[in-house]
Amino acid sequence: MVGKKIILAVTGSIAAYKAAQLVRLLVKKGAEVQVLMTPSATEFITPLTLSTLSKKPVFTQVISGQEWNSHVELGLWADALVVAPATANSLAKLAQGICDNIVSAVYLSARCPVFIAPAMDLDMWKHPATLANVQRLKSYGNHFLPVGYGELASGLVGEGRMAEPEEIVAFLEGFFQKKQDFSGKNVLITAGPTYEAIDPVRFIGNRSSGKMGVAIAEQFAARGAAVTLVLGPSKLAPQHPGITTVRVESAKQMYEASVQHFENADIAVLSAAVADYRPANVAEQKIKKKGDSMTIELEKTPDIAASLGKMKRRGQFIVGFALETNDELQNASEKLAKKNFDFIVLNSLQDAGAGFNFDTNKITILHRGNKRKDFELKSKAEVATDIVDEVSRLVG
Ligand code: PMT
Repeated sequence: MVGKKIILAVTGSIAAYKAAQLVRLLVKKGAEVQVLMTPSATEFITPLTLSTLSKKPVFTQVISGQEWNSHVELGLWADALVVAPATANSLAKLAQGICDNIVSAVYLSARCPVFIAPAMDLDMWKHPATLANVQRLKSYGNHFLPVGYGELASGLVGEGRMAEPEEIVAFLEGFFQKKQDFSGKNVLITAGPTYEAIDPVRFIGNRSSGKMGVAIAEQFAARGAAVTLVLGPSKLAPQHPGITTVRVESAKQMYEASVQHFENADIAVLSAAVADYRPANVAEQKIKKKGDSMTIELEKTPDIAASLGKMKRRGQFIVGFALETNDELQNASEKLAKKNFDFIVLNSLQDAGAGFNFDTNKITILHRGNKRKDFELKSKAEVATDIVDEVSRLVG
């Protein structure tokens, strides 16, 4: 990002507060940041905050007093225009070419790549009008940052949260590094949990959210790969055009989809938390409450990783994961050898902020011969970059 000229256009959403962190991260990475704000954005965060962090005056109007802040010059100056947060209203204006504020005026003048990080409430995000505007903006070649899932400012829970500043920076870095080092490569990724049915209403599952695997899929896709993401039950919906998501529920379904897609894969990253056992018999009707205890007989599920490890041909590369709670290095190194991985990513539930559901993770990459690399606690987007960099280094 060093020396890159970034216009950060902030529009009027509560997520505007994240713009401060975004400016700070971009400046720290060596970028020159020019902030633009719509008048309503200034209700959520002050221009003073953002100009202090960017070390530049913030423009909030095309004409302010006697000054004309040339939207044309700004549009030509930038290496990238980042609209974050982008409200439903701003998406509509950009999609329709309405330029009644400095953000939409600069957008129409910009010749550089445009990155849009939407932020809004879940019903606004799902409204056909918004979906149509997003489609239209994508058809203009604009890049969309996926929205997050979680609690929204309204108190509702769902999709619509702005991507975290770290994710936006990682996305931009991937773009600018012009690291299309996986162009022409097919990458298979497993992610998320599996659910093993007990009866039509109950299942055995685990706490995986799919965040780690989706971040890896997005990093590979940003670097040119054609990614097949075999995703267990997860609320996430990756949006990168380079990702084809195959949704599955059980270990058996994940196994079948993975074996099918491994055939054409150059690289596989197995980050899913797959059930090791499933009920031996699935009741066709809801099991009724009887007696004080109940026993469910379990049988082994197929081990996807071990099967792919056996199928691996010359030139195919497999990265495995190990989620441990004790004897971490020893367990991970046994899995590395037993499942024929090229390297394994160890995360331990002993580390605060690591593992299931967090937006962060702390990993150790373990190679054959016990050579290892320890990493700090980072956002899952940054962890994904570290893992993909390691694959790139080894696959060449
Ligand atoms: O989804 P998140 O909330 O972001 O959390 C991420 C994560 C914690 C799930 C992820 O970082 C992780 O550690 N994934 C692997 C979890 C796991 O089940 O590890 P394991 O040590 O039990 O399995 C070892 C390897 O074999 C893994 O690559 C696993 O995908 C694979 N496996 C396991 C069993 C099985 N039946 N089939 C498999 O392919």
